[in-house]
Amino acid sequence: MPATVLVGAQWGDEGKGRVADWLAAESDVVARYAGGDNAGHTVAVGEKVYKLHLVPSGILHERVTCVLGNGTVINPVNLINEIEHLIAEGVNVTPERLVISTKAHIITPAHIALDRASEKARGKDAIGTTLRGIGPAYLDKTGRKGIRAGQMASVEDFANSLYASIEEANVTLERQGIERLDPQATALAYIEAAERLKPYLRDTSVYINRRLKEGARVLCEGAQGTLLDVDHGDYPYVTSSSPTAGGALTGLGFGPCHVDRVVGVAKGFSTRVGGGPMPTELTGELADRLRGTGEHFWDEFGTTTGRPRRCGWLDAVVLRYAAQVSGFTELVLTKLDVLSGFEELKIAVAYRIDGRETEFPPSTMGELERAEPVYETLPGWSMDISGIRNAADLPEAARVYIERVAQMCETPVRTVSVGPERDQLVFC
Ligand code: IMP
Repeated sequence: MPATVLVGAQWGDEGKGRVADWLAAESDVVARYAGGDNAGHTVAVGEKVYKLHLVPSGILHERVTCVLGNGTVINPVNLINEIEHLIAEGVNVTPERLVISTKAHIITPAHIALDRASEKARGKDAIGTTLRGIGPAYLDKTGRKGIRAGQMASVEDFANSLYASIEEANVTLERQGIERLDPQATALAYIEAAERLKPYLRDTSVYINRRLKEGARVLCEGAQGTLLDVDHGDYPYVTSSSPTAGGALTGLGFGPCHVDRVVGVAKGFSTRVGGGPMPTELTGELADRLRGTGEHFWDEFGTTTGRPRRCGWLDAVVLRYAAQVSGFTELVLTKLDVLSGFEELKIAVAYRIDGRETEFPPSTMGELERAEPVYETLPGWSMDISGIRNAADLPEAARVYIERVAQMCETPVRTVSVGPERDQLVFC
C-alpha cells in the first residue's frame, strides 16, 4: 500500500496535528520526517487535549506504529518527558509503538545554548526561533560533526560525544561573553534519557520499506510549514529542515514511487510566529478577532512557546506556491469557523512589487518586504458553522470562499475543519 504525505502550506500551525490524527485512523504507520520539538501539535479527543511536540499524532491510535525518522532532530530529555506524559495519560508508548531512527540527530544542551547565543547576536534581526536548539543541531549534522541517535546505544560513546559538543560550544559562548556550560552537570540528564531511549532505536528506513512491501499504509506527518522550509521558505526566516514533501523521502528513506497522496493543510487565514515578512499581516481589531483571547487552546498562541501569533488574511500567493512545491493532490482548510461573523473576507491573489504584479512569492527578502498584497474581497457569513457536518449545509458565502481557494491554488479542497474536535470535519 502506498504512502500519504502531510504538509503545512503556510508558516506552520495550520492544524496539521488534528489532520494527522484523522488520517492516522486509516494508517498503519505514522512517521515524522523533519524538525524536532520546535513543533507543537494539538489534538483534542473528547475532554482530553494532547499537546505533542516530537511524538507523532498517530500515537493516539492503538494500532499505529509511530516513527521518528532520520530527518528529525531529537532532544532525548524532552522526548522522555513527552513519553512519560503520554503514558501518564494512559497512552501506550512501548518500543513496539514508537521507533526512533538510529540516524536521527541529537539536540544537545550545547545546541540550545548556541541557539540562544545566535538569536542574541542577531539583535533586531533575530529569526525568532523556538530556542530548542534546532538550527545548531542541523548545522552540526550538515557540518558532519553531529551526534546520531544510534550512538545512544553505547553510553560511553554518547557521553564522550556529548562532552565534546559542549566543550566546543563553550569556545563560542566564551567569545560572546556568555557563561560556559559545565559538561558533566549539563550532560547528566541527557545520558540518563539516552539509556532509556535505547530500546526504541532502529533503522527506520529499513523498517518503513519493509512495512510498505507488506502492504502497510504510511502517513508521513510534516511539521512546520512550506514557508519555513530551509530551501523553499522565506530564507533566512526559516527553520533548518525540509518540511515540504521532498523532505519526507529524504527524512524517512523511501522512494517517491510509494507516494500516492500529498495532503496540504492550510488555515482559512494566515498566521506566523517569529520574525520575517508576512504581506497580509493585520493589526488591531481584525487581528485580535482572528487570534482569539488565548483562553482556548485553539486560539492563536504558540503550543511550544506560548507566543501570540501574527494574524492576517489568507494569502493565496503562499498557498499556490506551497501546492506547487509539494505537488498537493488535495487541500484541507482548517479553522473555517473562526471566519464566521466577518462582514467581508479578503484573499491576497497576487503581490505588487515595485509596480509589477506576481502570483508567486519572490525569492529575495528585499522584494518580499516591499510586497503589497493585491486583494480580492469576498462576502462573509454570519452563522455559526461549528455544528455543520455536510458541505451542502455550509452558507453559500463559505462555499464560495472554499471554491475560490481551490481555484487559486489549482488544488481541490476536500476537507474543511469547523472546530477543534475530532468530528468537526466537513468533507467537500
Ligand atoms: P526554529 O525551528 O526553532 O529554528 O525556528 C525557526 C523559525 O521557524 C521561527 O520563526 C519559528 O517561530 C518557526 N517555527 C519553528 N517551528 C514552528 C512550528 O511548529 N510552528 C510555527 N512556527 C515554527
